[in-house]
Amino acid sequence: MEQMNNKNKATSGSDGLEKFGLAIATIVGITSIVAWTGLRKIKIKSEEFICLFPTILFSLFLISYSDYAYLRWLKKILPTYFTKNVVLFLRTIPKVWHFSILIIFTLYTIGILLGFKAYFRRRKLQKDLDTTGLTNAQGQMPKVISEVEIDENRSKVLVTAKGIGCDRFEAKKGDLQSSFGRIIESIKVLSDQTTLEILMCKNALRKILTYHEAETALKNPYNFLIGESANGILVADIRELPHLLIAGSTGGGKSVFFRQFFMSLLKYSSHLQVYLIDLKLGIEVKEFGQIPNVRIAKDEMEAVQLLQAIRDEMHKRFIFMEKIGIKKIDPKLHKRDLIVVGIDEASVLFGKTTVSKAKSELVARARELTDEIAKLARAAGIHLVIATQKPLKESLDTKTLENLTGRMIFQMSTITGSVSALGNKKAYALPEIQGRAIWAGGNKYIEVQTPFLSETQFDEECKELAAKMKEDGLKNFQPMIEYKAPKTEGTNPVVSMAVSSSEATT
Ligand SMILES: Nc1ncnc2c1ncn2[C@@H]1O[C@H](COP(=O)(O)OP(=O)(O)O)[C@@H](O)[C@H]1O
Ligand SMILES: [Mg+2]
Repeated sequence: MEQMNNKNKATSGSDGLEKFGLAIATIVGITSIVAWTGLRKIKIKSEEFICLFPTILFSLFLISYSDYAYLRWLKKILPTYFTKNVVLFLRTIPKVWHFSILIIFTLYTIGILLGFKAYFRRRKLQKDLDTTGLTNAQGQMPKVISEVEIDENRSKVLVTAKGIGCDRFEAKKGDLQSSFGRIIESIKVLSDQTTLEILMCKNALRKILTYHEAETALKNPYNFLIGESANGILVADIRELPHLLIAGSTGGGKSVFFRQFFMSLLKYSSHLQVYLIDLKLGIEVKEFGQIPNVRIAKDEMEAVQLLQAIRDEMHKRFIFMEKIGIKKIDPKLHKRDLIVVGIDEASVLFGKTTVSKAKSELVARARELTDEIAKLARAAGIHLVIATQKPLKESLDTKTLENLTGRMIFQMSTITGSVSALGNKKAYALPEIQGRAIWAGGNKYIEVQTPFLSETQFDEECKELAAKMKEDGLKNFQPMIEYKAPKTEGTNPVVSMAVSSSEATT
């Protein structure tokens, strides 16, 4: 009898152990899933992460290598678990193990916190969605799958909505907005046809920002307008970029941005020389031609001659810099004009061509010169602004691209286009609003509405500026660079090569 009792006790003991083990495994399993969901939400490229992560690592390192001081704290806080023996045992474990375990523990805790935050956020969104009363024919409500934060201002909510079409969501847009407390910018069906993407933002950017409204933010020379973000109008200094890439699908607003960019520079800066390359025969920027410190190259030949002349000026400036022992030109201090070279539709200039040998030689030369300027010109007070649809290697050398650190990317029709321009999908995810773009400087990606300068306003501005400059006189330190080589003889081998080969083709 006693034996049986003992046996029963033993089985119920092992049963209890099994249940305990199962409970622990379930808790570990669930918390791991939550932690993993949370950890996936961390944006490793964000400024917060870049600052916080090393700080946490360093703190953990200090804690684990501080002669086990943290074990003493644990003993004080949790004396029941961290008894003298436990602490003595833990002290025998090498410090590197302590460090690794602390990292895992911290990540786990952060993951769980973020995971729960995402879970409660999803529940709230689900409740908000339910209040709109959207149901399919069987009375089923749409289900929130997740929310993906795009930036501080906007996020997209993914919803499964079997039997509820996008048009019904569109019809309830007002209800959805008041329920979510956000502005809904767009609702679209994803390719699986059952998932809907609701793009929301806290502050809607306006759909049009006129150049005149934005212009009031321009206060300093060599500054230009980026556009209006959720936090107001942004401006930047071309000297700090030092080169700018403008990209995006056709019709997004590249040429308008290009024009207003140069308008701002020319209007508010003296001691500036602008050289534009527009191979659409200069039509888009023609009006700039009347301004005395602007030159426009309209064909490949002129473009190469111009780039060559800019390269020569750059080398002259290097010699000057070496002579007086400086590392960087300050226009005012060193009496050298700031030079900005703009290329619109760069793929026309740099794109591979099979038209003729002479033309492909010009393309190769243009690429070489641009690469050299992009790499070195910053210190010499020479900056590049390049606009192109897709920054792919067919139209721009990778090395040149790496040096175009300021980026204004309008909507891209493909994910690969967005990734090649920004390293992420943000330009693909942009709403289809003309003039809407992602401004990338450093690690930040900011959605902006770029200033709109209509063609008539642009013409008027150019006329006014030209008249004003005529009245006041051009305030430059140096004469404009003359780059059009005489057609008959050329001392420069490349120019003469290009001239003779072009003459040969005509
Ligand atoms: N910032 C803007 N705000 C509003 N509309 C714009 C803006 N930029 C461009 N647009 C509109 O989009 C059209 C195409 O712009 P454009 O600059 O020529 O595009 P891209 O050079 O990228 O092909 C313009 O004619 C204009 O109507
Ligand atoms: Mg264009």
